[in-house]
Amino acid sequence: MDQSFGNDFKELVRSSTNIVDLVSEVVALKPLHGGRDFVGLCPFHDDKNPSFHVYPDRQSYRCWVCDAGGDCFRWVIEIERVPFPEALESLARRARLEVPKHARSGGSHENISRKTDSLVVVEWAVNLMNQTLRTGPTADNARQYVLKRKLSDETVNHFKLGYHPEDWNWFLEKARGKFTPAQLVSAGLIQERNNGPGYFDNLVGRLVFPIFDERGRPVAFGGRVLPGGNIESDAKYWNSVESAIFQKRRMLFAFDRAREAIRKSKTAIIVEGYMDCIACHQAGIMNAVATLGTAMTEEHVRFLRRFAEKVVLVYDSDDAGQQAAERSISRFLAQDLDLRVLNVPSGKDPADYLEAHTSQEFYKLIEGAAEAWEYKLQSVLRRTDSGSVAGRQQILNHMLDFLAESQGLSGTVREDIILRNVCWRVQVDERTARQQLNELRSKKKKGGIFRRDSDRISAEFAPRPENAIERAEREMLEIILTCPETIDLIQHHIGADDFENVRHRRLLALCIDLWKEDGDLPELSRLIIAAESDSDLLSLINAVVDTAEEKGIFRLMTDQPNRDEQPETSVPDHLERVLGPILERREKRLNLVSKQILSQSAKPLSELDDDIKDALRRLYNFRQSQMGHPSSMK
Ligand code: UTP
Ligand code: MN
Repeated sequence: MDQSFGNDFKELVRSSTNIVDLVSEVVALKPLHGGRDFVGLCPFHDDKNPSFHVYPDRQSYRCWVCDAGGDCFRWVIEIERVPFPEALESLARRARLEVPKHARSGGSHENISRKTDSLVVVEWAVNLMNQTLRTGPTADNARQYVLKRKLSDETVNHFKLGYHPEDWNWFLEKARGKFTPAQLVSAGLIQERNNGPGYFDNLVGRLVFPIFDERGRPVAFGGRVLPGGNIESDAKYWNSVESAIFQKRRMLFAFDRAREAIRKSKTAIIVEGYMDCIACHQAGIMNAVATLGTAMTEEHVRFLRRFAEKVVLVYDSDDAGQQAAERSISRFLAQDLDLRVLNVPSGKDPADYLEAHTSQEFYKLIEGAAEAWEYKLQSVLRRTDSGSVAGRQQILNHMLDFLAESQGLSGTVREDIILRNVCWRVQVDERTARQQLNELRSKKKKGGIFRRDSDRISAEFAPRPENAIERAEREMLEIILTCPETIDLIQHHIGADDFENVRHRRLLALCIDLWKEDGDLPELSRLIIAAESDSDLLSLINAVVDTAEEKGIFRLMTDQPNRDEQPETSVPDHLERVLGPILERREKRLNLVSKQILSQSAKPLSELDDDIKDALRRLYNFRQSQMGHPSSMK
């Protein structure tokens, strides 16, 4: 490769990139003391006060707390987790520069360029399907549906809505000479057939909603079945599976189009559906985004907090929507964020509502949306008779439960204010309520530990011990995915061989590999890339992250009630609790094996059972890998 040419191109890209604009795509920046520099909330750690600085003079950034820093290339490498060649290519595209062949990533390193390739393929498909929806001869039914849902031509263009004709090999044929089937698979456009050779298209016969990342690049799709079409499907929507370029749990539909309005109004409106979000934008409510068929996650909140002070969650007024709302809000109660919740009245979703009402009326609803705790209180009040003493006690119990569930709220001013309000509304004495809340909290805590202890006991006595073992394995994985830096410690104590469940074993092996081979922490986005398109692994990863969040593993890991001053190298209590039984089990197995070896010791090595050979090999490997490591466990 012509190095000087590559460097010239790199400098051309640098000079065509404004770091303030680039960073502003994911961080809301404010001028610092009216000067030239900018500050915002750091995207590389959970920032509470703006500690992230951007310097236009030097075209660089730096966080004063976590010490992340660099130029535009480092930024893309860190934020998108791509190697340098792809960062270069990504910034070149952004600056609309033709990438010279020399500077193009990939070529000899084919697997490195997968992310960039997929972006190109997805964009091609978006344009193809958009064109088809607008003018294709096979799209009459789809156009009729778009009309029926009152979506304008501008909306179809603005969101690049599309249609995939009822033809199972359409992508494959249209891509001939442009992209390989493998590229189409990576981009999520086609799948291999289960029964027999060949491929089939995703999105067949569906109205297609492209999903854009925060930079406005299409990365995935949602496709809705069309009434009157010939495609039978149980699921109303088909969604792209997660991939190197698409991670549902942090992505928000239409964020790129809503960013400016969110930043200006300091308010984000989160709706549930693609259709709802699009209807909002069409009505001029530009600060609306949608989750992608998942509940709102902590990652969503952390991301939005960089732009907004207030987040309004809008749910359909059906029962399912309300229950979903109540389940998810206690998790965000402790966040430094004005969280409001709104149910659209009279059984409607926002799209329906906006068909019959003006955007002003919708804004009024938004303005009047209750604070999260108030929303909870109102729905408890609706269900319970507040006239009787027993009823009022019941209402208080529900509310205290709700507060006790919210991790991180304990002892905060926020909790104080909420509790005072609740007590005033239910007319009970604040001191008694607070005492009750504290008791509830300590009971919950004990309950949690008790549950884990009983797991450990049943691991030895239960008739089917593999269940408890698998639970322990799962929890180990939950810890790794929540706190990826624990992998260094964990891999010194256990190897994939110590896991019973085959899928667990594969995921642990992958985590250890990443760390040992590439020196990469098994962070979610890195793992998803490493898992390639292995749906088995991906679904396990998703499940692990979900349950980790439900159980509040992060808090369990950082909570160290029994250790006031501890050296940084020590093992977190929670990790020790989970690791313990797994290590015990290994010891037992090894003891058993050595007993068997003794009983067979008359035999020459070549005649030992395969099981025993296998166990010896594991033992040997493990001791090898542990050599020289100052174990902090025992
Ligand atoms: P809704 O059923 O409310 O759909 O699901 P919608 O977006 O309002 O669409 P219309 O009005 O029926 O046309 C809300 C969201 O849940 C996810 C999608 O993201 C959808 O936008 N979803 C729903 C799925 O992922 N799969 C499904 O089968 C259904
Ligand atoms: Mn709907």
